[in-house]
Formats: sequence, C-alpha cells, structure tokens
Amino acid sequence: MRDWLTDRPAPAVCHHGPKRHGTDPRPGGPVARAAERIQSPAMCDVHDRPRVLIVDDDAQMRSLFARLLNDDGYLVDVAADGASAIEAAGARPPDLVLLDVLMPGVNGFEVCRRFKRDSATRLTPVVMVTALGDRDSRVQGLGLGADDFLSKPVDRDELLTRARSLVRMKRYTDDLDSAASIIMTLAVLIEARDGYTDGHCHRMANYATLLGRHLGLGDNDLQALHRGGFLHDIGMLAIPDAVLRKRGTLSPDEYELIKSHTVVGDTLCGNLRSLRAVRPIVRHHHERLDGSGYPDGLDGDQIPLLAQVVGIVDVFDAVTTRRPYQEAMPLDHAVEVLRSHARMEWRRRDLVEGFADIVESGRLQTFTTTKESSSQRPDFTNG
Ligand SMILES: [Fe+2]
Repeated sequence: MRDWLTDRPAPAVCHHGPKRHGTDPRPGGPVARAAERIQSPAMCDVHDRPRVLIVDDDAQMRSLFARLLNDDGYLVDVAADGASAIEAAGARPPDLVLLDVLMPGVNGFEVCRRFKRDSATRLTPVVMVTALGDRDSRVQGLGLGADDFLSKPVDRDELLTRARSLVRMKRYTDDLDSAASIIMTLAVLIEARDGYTDGHCHRMANYATLLGRHLGLGDNDLQALHRGGFLHDIGMLAIPDAVLRKRGTLSPDEYELIKSHTVVGDTLCGNLRSLRAVRPIVRHHHERLDGSGYPDGLDGDQIPLLAQVVGIVDVFDAVTTRRPYQEAMPLDHAVEVLRSHARMEWRRRDLVEGFADIVESGRLQTFTTTKESSSQRPDFTNG
C-alpha cells in the first residue's frame, strides 16, 4: 500500500496584475501607468517572457504583428504557412498563437484544429485573425476551439490587451499544472522511501483505469481513477520512516499513525481544483462495505465508487508485489484474496468479479511485466 512518480520542471511564471501595486483608477494617472507597465510582459525577466507565434502568409502583417508584440515584451516566432507553424510550435512551444485564417496549403482552420487536438498545444490560446465581419470564419473557428478573434485591420491596443489577457490565463493554467506535478512528484518520493514498491503508483493508475473502463465509467471518472491511482497514499508523506519501514508488528499507536495517511492525503489535495475528484479516493480507499474500514467507518454505498475501485486494486498490487517479508503472490491467488474480501462483505462482489475478469483474461499482463509501458504521467491541465 504505497505510492509514486513523475517530474517536470515548473515553468517560469510571470505574475502580472495591477492589484499588487495599487488601486488608483484614474486613467493616465501615475498608478495607472505603473499598472500598465506591470501588465506588460516587458517587465518580466527575459527568460520569463511569453512567447507568441505569428502565423500569416502576408509578410507585411507578420512584420507588423512582430514589431508590436516585440515592443510589448514578447518573444516572437513567425511562420509563413500552416506547416511551418506546426513545426515551430513543436520546437518552441508558444504561450499564444496569432493565426491568419486564409493561407495557402494548410490553412488557419486546420492549424487550429491540429493545435487543439494535440495534448502539447491544446491549452495554448489561439487567436484567429479574420476579415472584418467574416461571421462564418468565426463560427468555424469557434467550433475548432479558437480562443479569440481579431479583425483586420487590427487595432494595436486591442491586440495587446487580448494578448496580455490570454497569456495571463495560459500562465494560470501552467501554474495549476505545475502545482499538480509537484504533488505527483511527492507521491513518487513516497514510493522511493519504501524502496521495494517500485512502480506501484503506475500499476495502480493503470489497474484502476482498466477496472473503471470495464465498469463503463465515463472519461471524468477514468481520469480521476488514473490520478487517484498515483496519489491515493500521498498522505504517507506525514508518516515517519521508523513507522513506514518498520518490519515488525505495529503498535496500536503506530497503526493509528499509518491510518492517518488517508486524512492527511485528503488535506494535501484539498486546495487543488484539479485534484477535487481525487480527494474521495485518497480519503476512502481503506473503507470497507461492512463499516470496519477507516478513516470514517463508511459502509455500503456511502463509500464512493472510485474509492472502492482503488481499494480493490490496492490490495491486488500489495499481494502481487514482492516484499522483504513476502513473496509475490500468483495472480490467481491474489484474485482469491479479493474474493475472500467479497465473502467477508468488505468489497463489492461485482467489482471484485469485474477485476477478476480483467486478470483472468490476461489484460493485466502488460503492466505486471513491463514497467515502462505504464510510465505516462497523469494530465492535470483540464480540471
Ligand atoms: Fe493507503
């Protein structure tokens, strides 16, 4: 019953916002001018400057946009056609894309569609530049996920204001992703502390998702199961090594300490919107149907379904993993352990049989034999 991984350096963040520096509402007043400067990317360290990708087949337009945005502090990349834009975004991920609609070859709609389908760029704001009054293009762009529109001829102030607003939102999203990544990293550190449960979090994430899919759960639940598989034991961070790694029998006090990992983990996840759906899993994965589990002694349907799913795969992974004090149990024996839990009314029989079906049909084989196959980190960027 332990967890784990993934690491990604937090993106540098440029904090804009006049609220931190004053509330003077007078247009053109000293505070207002200061606020405007603070909102400008030019205030940020060069390594922190937002990057904008300008895509237009018209060299004059590219040059105009590039000059305006460069003067406002952005790092600027330009592309003269759709194919070059996709290549440039792959090489230097932008914080904002200004995208002309009408271009030869891969047009703006197709570029937007590809950006919004690619997990690496789907949260990058895309502003489509259309002809004034071109309603059809705007409707089509919206359908493809475009975030905003500008009409030609482009107004300088409108361009810069929209760019700042969209980049600010992009940075907030990056912050959220970074915070969640830190939590994931902490989970992996717990796995490293144990030293003998390597890969547990990845297997848990994959087992739980497999069972969720077998049960016909929707995408949001599957995402929560994947995240919950990683994070269910995040509260073990609060447990001292002497207790966590103790090989003998735990004293009553030590056992109470171990049990507290559920409540501590719930608290750790508490303030992250992207982990909201994971909290019930973290808190309740040790509850039992008959009310004999912890921390809240929930029974029956009071126990969230996703927590029950993770509870089942947690037991399965614990008994099928080799430990200093136990050999790894064969998969069929592990299934019998789960069935015994169903007979004792600790776990729902239908859920246990669903997982038994997955095991007995060989669908776990990939994860039990190839750790690398399950190394994908959870995605936290879509809530
Ligand atoms: Fe646990």
